[in-house]
Amino acid sequence: MATKRQARTAVQTRAKNTNAAKTPTAAPATGATVFEQRLARHHDELRWLYMELYGNSDMFAELVGQLRNYFDARPRTLKALDAQREGRAWYRDRAMLGMQMYIDNFAGTINGVEQQLPYLERCHVNYLHLMPFLDTPADKSRSDGGYAVKDFRRVKPELGTMDDLAHLAEACHKRGISLCMDFVMNHTSDEHEWARRARAGEGEYMSRYFFERNQGIIDQYTRDVPQVFPTTAPGHFTYLPELGQSVMTQFYPYQWDLNYRNPRVFNEMMYNFLYLANQGMDIIRIDAVPYIWKQLGTTCRNLPQVHTIVRMMRMISEIVCPGIVLLGEVVMAPVEVVPYFGTVDKPECHMLYNVTTMATTWHTVATHDARLLRQQLNAVCSLPHSYTFLNYLRCHDDIGWGLDYPALEAWGMAEVPHKQFLNDYFQGFVPGSTSRGELYNADPTTGDARFCATTASMCGIEAAGFEGNEAAMSTAIAKDLMLHAYMLSQSGLPIIYSGDEIGLVNDYSYQEDPEKAEDSRYIHRGRFPWELVSNIDDAGTVQARIFTGLDQLERIRREDPVFDASAEVYAKDYSDDAILWIVRRAGDTTLHAVYNFSDDEKLLWMPQEGRYHNLVTEQDSTFQTFTLPAWGFAWLEAR
Ligand code: GLC
Repeated sequence: MATKRQARTAVQTRAKNTNAAKTPTAAPATGATVFEQRLARHHDELRWLYMELYGNSDMFAELVGQLRNYFDARPRTLKALDAQREGRAWYRDRAMLGMQMYIDNFAGTINGVEQQLPYLERCHVNYLHLMPFLDTPADKSRSDGGYAVKDFRRVKPELGTMDDLAHLAEACHKRGISLCMDFVMNHTSDEHEWARRARAGEGEYMSRYFFERNQGIIDQYTRDVPQVFPTTAPGHFTYLPELGQSVMTQFYPYQWDLNYRNPRVFNEMMYNFLYLANQGMDIIRIDAVPYIWKQLGTTCRNLPQVHTIVRMMRMISEIVCPGIVLLGEVVMAPVEVVPYFGTVDKPECHMLYNVTTMATTWHTVATHDARLLRQQLNAVCSLPHSYTFLNYLRCHDDIGWGLDYPALEAWGMAEVPHKQFLNDYFQGFVPGSTSRGELYNADPTTGDARFCATTASMCGIEAAGFEGNEAAMSTAIAKDLMLHAYMLSQSGLPIIYSGDEIGLVNDYSYQEDPEKAEDSRYIHRGRFPWELVSNIDDAGTVQARIFTGLDQLERIRREDPVFDASAEVYAKDYSDDAILWIVRRAGDTTLHAVYNFSDDEKLLWMPQEGRYHNLVTEQDSTFQTFTLPAWGFAWLEAR
């Protein structure tokens, strides 16, 4: 452990080196110096927070010793990448484009993914989120799609090995692709070694989870803490007859919540995190992070101690592996999400999911009313530019209708009936809806339900294909491309959900698989249809229309500085509620990105007559009014 004096000396050395670093001939600092410098930068705050939470200086000393070990073990190539990335928000570059995928669905194994890197490059992907691949129970009905981890240091054997992963990371880095993985830190599988030993009655391991005998306390949790999976996994505790006690399981009964009040849990989980970072991971998605601290009498969500832990993780990563990015999975209301960025001086996550914008987007599709989306985008745009959001239309999870209901109520849309309308709409039960999909965790007590389907199915591609209706297919493809264009015109990191680039529709086969049938999220976790990929070169096919459309939009975004994260962005008020009008300004350039969320053609008015360049058609013309077809869009740059 560094003393204060050592820390000061290290700070002075750092100051000297910072000056030296400006001269290109400066000799690189030695490994020891780099580590000491980084540690010195954070030591006092890290120690303060650790002691505040745990009051255990021996465990803190152990942690610091291990940080050094993980730094020493970090491969040279990753250290070089750290040096390039340190202090640079590399993940905010407008050329960044992400894709999220399941290894088995996409290419069978990790080695299979490596072989398919040329396809991902063709998709312009330079950020690849591999869905959970660490070892989980063999029985899929007890793995929560990989989110019940049995061993944090072992890859699921059917997907490959840790060496394969490190090899893939190296191959990706050579191509400028960064890798994202999930770090499931709220819970372990009940087959994890700690859980097995706890179940055998070993006190040391029991203290890593929450065991409870008192039914009164269990009842109080039930009263105060909202349900995560009200239908598929009701309750917060699971009774273990062999121990005559219950264990806390906020998610599924086989996912035991870890007890972060125990510093052993924190330390060991940090070692796992650093071990994984050292395999070449670039982005660590901190799964379900709001849930990690529990306090009886609260909702057990977003407690201040959660922020202390995330802040400590940020410092730990800046000490050992500053090239990596922390992506917080905070699926909460906006007021709860933003604090996970921390402050400018004391940052927590680098990046967060733009979850409310995503849900509000689909609300806009169903209602043809962009007013709420404008408000939501303006709320996001008014945040400091350094706050980076990950934008997406669909992911592996359901859509929860977390909307701004007070605003909607003022426009006559009350929460419960509106959620019912959205769920009916997207199931295709409302006249005019072409969407297809299924409910998820319908809660009879609250009348709440979430929704599952792929982007393409929600846009009507599935229904149009089934009916063989070409006109409906054209509208569905237009809607799909318009939504992607809208996503690409937001600041932040756009993520394509694997399969969306070729319009992949729902996969109902999960219903016949007893290990998946209970969980309708599998409807959008289907096998990647390689047989359809050949169609992308066959103009006129659904796959080619979507793939080439996206290809063009992605190229425009990459090449035009108006898409920089530093641009000034806002959603304009426009008299027609069905129109979303985003303005982006960077330098002298102004982009009008206009989206028609309705089934009607619209005549639209520019603020003034002028010369505009259409980025998609590449045509210049002078006009004041222009038309957008149903579900059409335009990217117009004032010239
Ligand atoms: C996250 C994942 C979700 C999983 C849950 C429990 O929310 O996205 O798929 O069920 O965490 O780990």
